[in-house]
Amino acid sequence: MGARLTLSLAGLSALAVLLYVLLADRGVPAPAVISVAICLAFAAWLARVFAEPLRRAVEFAQQLTRGVPSPRLPETAAGETGDLYRALNRLAEDHRRRLEERGAERSETEVLLREMGDGVLALDRSGRVVRANAELCTVLGCSEPLEGRALATILRNPQLVSFLSPSELPEAGRTGEFEVFGRTMLVTARRLPAGGVVAVFSDLTELRRLDTVRTEFVANASHELKTPLTAIRGFAETLLDPGIPDADRSTFAERIVEHANRMTAIVDDLLTLARLEDPRREIHRRPVAIGPLVERIVDGFSARLEAAAITTSVEVSPPDLELEADPEGLRQILENLIDNAIRHANPSTIHVRAERLPSGEVKLGVQDDGRGIATSQLERIFERFYRVDPSRSRATGGTGLGLSIVKHWAEAMGGRAAAEGAVGEGTRAHVLLPPPSPKGNELAAQG
Ligand SMILES: Nc1ncnc2c1ncn2[C@@H]1O[C@H](COP(=O)(O)OP(=O)(O)OP(=O)(O)O)[C@@H](O)[C@H]1O
Ligand SMILES: [Mg+2]
Repeated sequence: MGARLTLSLAGLSALAVLLYVLLADRGVPAPAVISVAICLAFAAWLARVFAEPLRRAVEFAQQLTRGVPSPRLPETAAGETGDLYRALNRLAEDHRRRLEERGAERSETEVLLREMGDGVLALDRSGRVVRANAELCTVLGCSEPLEGRALATILRNPQLVSFLSPSELPEAGRTGEFEVFGRTMLVTARRLPAGGVVAVFSDLTELRRLDTVRTEFVANASHELKTPLTAIRGFAETLLDPGIPDADRSTFAERIVEHANRMTAIVDDLLTLARLEDPRREIHRRPVAIGPLVERIVDGFSARLEAAAITTSVEVSPPDLELEADPEGLRQILENLIDNAIRHANPSTIHVRAERLPSGEVKLGVQDDGRGIATSQLERIFERFYRVDPSRSRATGGTGLGLSIVKHWAEAMGGRAAAEGAVGEGTRAHVLLPPPSPKGNELAAQG
């Protein structure tokens, strides 16, 4: 437009000169020619005066569309030109503010989408991805951006693809549970005003796992309690029979006491576990001299060790080893490990070892030379109610809770439990407890 106006001005001036030459040539009197030329020049000047604000306004608008941050027109201009310039400046200012607001909103949305624990997916009306946040990418294991791809090329589950399909989604949206790349996802899909779909993927895997753990736990605990309970009822019912000889009576009564004791032991173990799992539990740490503690505990097993002809060795390094720990926890750890070796391993020797490692940690463990545990089962033995050989363990009175208690005690004191070995090579089970640190103690005590 500006170029066009400049051209017109130049054209007019050239025309004036040309007219002068032509008319003067044809004998038109000079004053008339001069008048025509002046008129034309005046017209050209007028055109320039009016065209200039227009040219600047056009240039201003072009700068705005090009995204020049803050274009300004001189507000000092007089009259209507000044009004026009001021109005345009205000327009540009509004435009800039709105752009800034939208930018801020967009970056807030970006942060929200990025930091959300859930996956978010937006599809256009044809079912192509327009947005997918990082969390969704992690779930789907994608290596490149999903934007622009059709849903069916991303998700392998045809039911989920049709569940999210914009053409099939009900007006009110819908929610469903799906397996997505090995994870259990709660998918909530809603319509977008523009016709697409937005879906939120919430990971339920851990929740479902905990559900299963809880269900299994209740089933296992009920089963373990039911076995002695059934026996107690059987013996009690038999005792009700008046024809039972006196000698049998006392045997049945003894059996009842035996099974009741077993039930008490199971309930005690369950209560211990529940206390250890309680996040508000208190760990009573104090300096414990490990040597005397180990000696005392091994002494407590002397009758059983003797009866099974098992020799023992105790090694504490350094001999005056001391540990800031809960003595009750240390007792339960060692008793469970020694009890297991006697009960399950059928060993000839048991070594009880406590040593301070170069890292400062204390390793407290029991090693036997008995039947050993298959490598594949070594991690599972710390699970609640897990027994390598359920019938054998149950026959020897095991509930499968002992090592779970060991693990929970170790973790409550900031350490961990582990076992090594192989079938026929004996078992080395131990806990690693951290060195004392004032901060660590505080945290563990808070729990
Ligand atoms: N030293 C060991 N040698 C061989 N098997 C072992 C040894 N220690 C543990 N196990 C196996 O690991 C299982 C789990 O041990 P855990 O101490 O948790 O339970 P338990 O001894 O059966 O019962 P509980 O300790 O509750 O009375 C045992 O049932 C047994 O099969
Ligand atoms: Mg045990």
